[in-house]
Amino acid sequence: MKLRSVRGTHDVYGEDITKYKLIENIVRKKAELNSFNKLETPIFEFTELFAKPLGEQSDVVLKEMYTFEDRNQEKLTLRPEYTTPMIRAAITNNLLNELPLKIFGLGPMFRRERPQKGRYRQFNQINFEIFGSNDFMADLELIIIGNEILETILPNSNFILNLNTLGQKNNLTNYKTKLGNYFKDKKEKLSDESKEKIETNPLRILDSKNEKDIIISNGAPTLQEFISIEEKNHFSDIKKGLDFLNIKYVENNKLVRGLDYYCSTVFEFKTSELGSQDTILGGGRYDGLIGTLGGPDIPGVGWAAGIERIAMLMEPNINNLIKVHIAISDKKYNSHLQKVMNILRKNNIHFYWNYKYNIKKSLSKADSNNINYIIIIGEDEFNNNYYSVRDLNTGQQSQFKENEIIKYLND
Ligand code: HAM
Repeated sequence: MKLRSVRGTHDVYGEDITKYKLIENIVRKKAELNSFNKLETPIFEFTELFAKPLGEQSDVVLKEMYTFEDRNQEKLTLRPEYTTPMIRAAITNNLLNELPLKIFGLGPMFRRERPQKGRYRQFNQINFEIFGSNDFMADLELIIIGNEILETILPNSNFILNLNTLGQKNNLTNYKTKLGNYFKDKKEKLSDESKEKIETNPLRILDSKNEKDIIISNGAPTLQEFISIEEKNHFSDIKKGLDFLNIKYVENNKLVRGLDYYCSTVFEFKTSELGSQDTILGGGRYDGLIGTLGGPDIPGVGWAAGIERIAMLMEPNINNLIKVHIAISDKKYNSHLQKVMNILRKNNIHFYWNYKYNIKKSLSKADSNNINYIIIIGEDEFNNNYYSVRDLNTGQQSQFKENEIIKYLND
């Protein structure tokens, strides 16, 4: 048997581990500062949790869910997204007594999509949700947190916030009917993929990237006339809030999102640096969804971001911990080595030693790109009870007593 990984999955190691850790730390910190509590859910749920809310005719439900039958004939699905499991957990654990509920989570999701750059069958998401508020401030707060997280992790990347409003659910349903009729008349001119969506979700034809579809979509009725004054005000309040904070955005009336549960505000942070999988973070309102799933009739809003996509945009060598490589010339000086390792460990200094009792061999194995200092232990260092420390940035080598090393490394 040829050993291989499952198509569309990837292992995480080396620099990616450092990047994922950094992302997680920043997310955790921002969540804490904004009073979002962590909620972890299992990676599988009953299939029915996903099928209806995400859209029985949506790509995710029709083609992409990993569904299997348990030994007792119950149908289970590996979670393709986090919002519905979060709602399920809030309902089954009685967390909706005190509103609003602000929660976040990180973890793996599963979708059987066609793998390509930035698109995997197992990928990791960061997820933020607010249950129980229809105030525009909730939408705004979530967008601001998303923006801050991305700006902190990706200070040198170009990403831009795309915004749209879909109006309330009943208005959206009326619009979908009108849009469906329009596309039915032009069916022959659409791509095969879009033809299939006329009956199921004509909204999705609007964000097709196919040239033929774009030409037809340009003449389609717009959602604008279906949107109520209240919705328009809600949307313009969000935009005012963003202007106030100088957060740049573009209004994109083709933005409809891929899952069926959305209404009202929808948004995505997009970049031109990732090719066709250009959305780093996406979300919006899903008023009505919590009620549909058996909870109270309260509104909800949230977003999710792809950790793999964020990591791809991060600079290499983001690890700025002090990295110390220890080189020793002979086993005879082992006690001197143990002493310095102990000091480094106690002071949380990141160090590495490769069990070689030979300075040259030890250093030849060292990955010098990632190392800031080398501590050298030889005969003279052992006999006179000091350590030589070479700063690889300056090339300078100095001698230190045991109790001076930490101060030097930390300065
Ligand atoms: P989504 O747009 O399906 O939304 O996914 C959110 C993000 O997850 C995407 O923007 C992308 O960064 C990442 N992502 C999605 N699929 C893949 C994949 N196959 N490989 C790698 N990354 C991927 C949701 O999942 C909604 N639940 C978001 C939400 C939360 N809406 C309200 N609350």
